[in-house]
Amino acid sequence: MSNNDIIGFWGETPEKYANLEVENRKTILFPAIIDILKIRQGAKLLDYGGGDGGFLDLVNVKCEKYLYDPSNGMIDFAKANRKTINRFYTEDSKLPLLYFNVISLIHVVTVIKENEELNRIFKKIWQLLLDDGTFIIGMTHPAFKNNFFSTFHTDFSTQKLKFDYLNSHLPYFVHLDTENSKEHISFECYHRPISIVLNMIISCGFMITKVIEVPDKDFKNQDKEFLFPPFLIIECKKQII
Ligand SMILES: C[S@@+](CC[C@H](N)C(=O)[O-])C[C@H]1O[C@@H](n2cnc3c(N)ncnc32)[C@H](O)[C@@H]1O
Repeated sequence: MSNNDIIGFWGETPEKYANLEVENRKTILFPAIIDILKIRQGAKLLDYGGGDGGFLDLVNVKCEKYLYDPSNGMIDFAKANRKTINRFYTEDSKLPLLYFNVISLIHVVTVIKENEELNRIFKKIWQLLLDDGTFIIGMTHPAFKNNFFSTFHTDFSTQKLKFDYLNSHLPYFVHLDTENSKEHISFECYHRPISIVLNMIISCGFMITKVIEVPDKDFKNQDKEFLFPPFLIIECKKQII
């Protein structure tokens, strides 16, 4: 899948994605991020790759909310349905530089295929963030292979597992569903080693100030007695020399 194909895929599904019955984004990950951020009234908050605007809509502090997503379909959906969002962008070159108190990047790292594009995104976010601002990343936990969580499962089975772990990415599928789901969404993601992501964040000018593994709902895998954290959150500040 090329970068344009990936953006195109998300543009086709905004309604289904936003209204999916299976909603671990809204019930687990988004609240965990909001809890960490402690957003102040009047803060300027940008959700980069924010899709249907579900995260910004959940923030109930009076602040300025900006949504950027390269998919026109997602932005059109958000404009029609997310009345708490102040401004919408489909091009990140139009966003004001050195402007935002908080920038979030949620469930975007794993949909990006090429390291060059991820590197470009981190550098862009550095330019957009105020010097004392906070950059927060939320993503599917990268440490587990095929696994079942309360509202989604990951599937590496169609891929050959011979792969250069430290230098490459491995495609896999994410299926948003539960055993009883009437609807589901499946899409390709790209697994890369966590050291690549963390070192890239640092080389793009950030320091990592918090790493949190978010626990799942009370859910047991069919044949295992322990619970895996489905999500990883990374909080960063700018390195200012
Ligand atoms: C899994 S959705 C996540 C949406 C939202 N952040 C959330 O947590 O619900 C992935 C989003 O990444 C966006 N995306 C894809 N490629 C991107 C890129 N190169 N830069 C920024 N966003 C991108 C897609 O358009 C899509 O809205």
